[in-house]
Amino acid sequence: LRTAVIIVAAGSGERLGQGIPKAAATLGSEPMLGHALRGVLAAQIAAQICVVLPRGDTELRALVASLQEGNDVQLMTVDGGSTRADSVRNALEVLSETDAVLVHDAARALAPTEVFHRVLNALESGAKAVIPVIPVVDTIKVASSSERPDIAPEQVRSTPIRESLRAVQTPQGFELATLRKAHDASAMFTDAQAAAITDDAMLVESQGIPVYLVRGSELSLKITTPNDLLFAEALLEGPAA
Ligand code: CTP
Ligand code: MG
Repeated sequence: LRTAVIIVAAGSGERLGQGIPKAAATLGSEPMLGHALRGVLAAQIAAQICVVLPRGDTELRALVASLQEGNDVQLMTVDGGSTRADSVRNALEVLSETDAVLVHDAARALAPTEVFHRVLNALESGAKAVIPVIPVVDTIKVASSSERPDIAPEQVRSTPIRESLRAVQTPQGFELATLRKAHDASAMFTDAQAAAITDDAMLVESQGIPVYLVRGSELSLKITTPNDLLFAEALLEGPAA
């Protein structure tokens, strides 16, 4: 399969709280995006890589350009949109001559090569959509507003069986035409519906297309908060000798 990878890196990193786009935050010795992009290059699966960057950014653009040297892969950059889905759509517009596309969060900067390969293998076996997942360790409750707000604002509505739950990661893989169609269909969403879209698979699911699950990795954590960054730094360092 001719395969492209979209790396979404246009978020503002509110929860990380450094006052700079999250992809520009330093992890180890370089910006988070450097790790994410090197990870994609190391997997050697893509003919084209499109990195979605914060509008007006120059630093990350230069980083992408520096990694182009000595690589046959076509590296492109496009400006991000106001939501993650908008950012993905901007990238989908520029991809060409591709059968499959993997959408990856720059925030999952340490995703290992094997995960890229597991996702691509499923696409090669005929899946139109495939996502990497890991088991959930916490018990998860569905919350609803409380019948006694004087006690607490929320109460438990239900408890899904933990065995059946999976935490979802990236890269998420799709047949290109399938993902484009799913994103086109979401153009009519209300603002509330659009705000509820947290991954690409949701859009494909709503088209009634089966989304297959492959094993993700604990290394593919989404760096969101300052604690996550500390943990990622420790993972990079490896165990103390
Ligand atoms: N993203 C994007 N465009 C947006 C929003 C998010 O490309 N408009 C990307 C982020 O750069 C990140 C991934 O989508 O790689 C997942 O988003 P998230 O972890 O929420 O990152 P941020 O939106 O930057 O963080 P926050 O929500 O804390 O501001
Ligand atoms: Mg966000």
